[in-house]
Amino acid sequence: MEKWVGHVAFVTGASAGIGKAVAEELVEQGLKVIGFARRKELLDELEKKLSSKKGKFYAYAGDASKEEDILKACQWTKDNVGSISILINNAAILGLAKLSECETKIWQQQLDVNVLAPCITAREAIKQMKENKIDGHIININSTAGHKIIPNQKLNLYNSTKYALTALTETLRLQLALEGSKIRVTSISPGGVRTDMMNTAFAEFGIPADSTLSINLLEPTDIANAVLYVLSTPATVNITELTIQATGEKM
Ligand SMILES: NC(=O)c1ccc[n+]([C@@H]2O[C@H](COP(=O)([O-])OP(=O)(O)OC[C@H]3O[C@@H](n4cnc5c(N)ncnc54)[C@H](OP(=O)(O)O)[C@@H]3O)[C@@H](O)[C@H]2O)c1
Repeated sequence: MEKWVGHVAFVTGASAGIGKAVAEELVEQGLKVIGFARRKELLDELEKKLSSKKGKFYAYAGDASKEEDILKACQWTKDNVGSISILINNAAILGLAKLSECETKIWQQQLDVNVLAPCITAREAIKQMKENKIDGHIININSTAGHKIIPNQKLNLYNSTKYALTALTETLRLQLALEGSKIRVTSISPGGVRTDMMNTAFAEFGIPADSTLSINLLEPTDIANAVLYVLSTPATVNITELTIQATGEKM
């Protein structure tokens, strides 16, 4: 990770769960990390917690479903911290509802946060990387749900948005490769991870909270460690897809 010390990483959904764990690890390694999410109080807490670490955390409150928030955050990053070298597209929502009964606005939110936001952040980050000749790295936090359909009455567009992210990752990687760019693009696809998202899903699926402890799940730090591994590979290596499941996972 030495090569990334002092570089700027933009992490969406850094207020909780996987994004928070990734942001913490990157700051620990000496990077400047912009944590983008809506809950400013959680980001401010994290900024305080990480204040004595090797790198630095910058809390930035914004909504990934609003293009203007993303554009302002990327510009703010460039003007105040530096051009983005690493983009971690992590924010996503579940939007639990049966497809045949779902309100259009729930589909819109899922598409905005899970699909459009990663497109916008990638476009803006690539602009900054190219302007500054940075051979950067874009990591999309995908899901095993981006590769196989989970049988469930409430999963709605989640699978579809993650399949879209699988296609987006590979399309972007190929387009950059075809133009001779050295910017790398990776999809990391976790199985179940113990986060608020998983707890919400368990509650909706009628799984009692006390029985979830016996379900084999990954921890957010497992995904943060995978991000460090992907970033640590030599510039000539692009991990395109990394699937991680808890040992014994039955999903
Ligand atoms: N947990 C799992 O089992 C699992 C498995 C596979 C893949 N994943 C993927 O891992 C990623 C992180 O999931 P997680 O489990 O850590 O979820 P989480 O605990 O629910 O955290 C989601 C994060 O996304 C942010 N976010 C949501 N909507 C946003 C919006 N409109 N604008 C800005 N930020 C927004 C949240 O921040 P605010 O609410 O503060 O905005 C929060 O920081 C997602 O892409 C998810 O699909 C999760």
